[in-house]
Amino acid sequence: MRNIVLTGFMGTGKTEVGRELARLLAMKLIDIDTEIVKSAKMSINQIFERFGEEKFREIETEMIEKVSREKNVLISTGGGAVLKQVNMDALKRTGTVICLMAMPETILQRTSGNSERPLLKVGNPLEKINELLCFRQPFYEKADMMINTDNKTPLQIAEEIIAKIRNAQF
Ligand code: S3P
Repeated sequence: MRNIVLTGFMGTGKTEVGRELARLLAMKLIDIDTEIVKSAKMSINQIFERFGEEKFREIETEMIEKVSREKNVLISTGGGAVLKQVNMDALKRTGTVICLMAMPETILQRTSGNSERPLLKVGNPLEKINELLCFRQPFYEKADMMINTDNKTPLQIAEEIIAKIRNAQF
């Protein structure tokens, strides 16, 4: 079986859906941000603060390249992983890329309790979410499948993904 890759904006449910999928399909889940934190021995916030976003993107690309070489795994990426074509190419080489989507208001609600998102630490996070979503939309559309997550539980989303993968010719 090909790898399954979950991508999509912050707060679209990649982590929770990834856990459900891993359980239902008995697949190993590899979260790119978690791997980066383990290998850098620093939080994502600390990497952004000390080295800046550009350096974080370099580390992210190295980790995606490494993890994409694995087989039969479920990979969850950070929300900005789609921005570099080299990342998308590596992920698609071995996997089916699924992009989770949500309304800006849903994203705000899901991300507001968590301070581990350096890009949303601004005065008006909803405005920032709208701005980033608008810029990133064409990048997210490069995924093999897009799944809306508004008003759905992680289990419902995971079941929808499994049904779509089984019906598709990947
Ligand atoms: C980012 C998303 C984050 C993390 C970093 C940058 C982004 O991951 O990689 O803060 O650019 O959208 P999550 O999507 O898991 O929050």
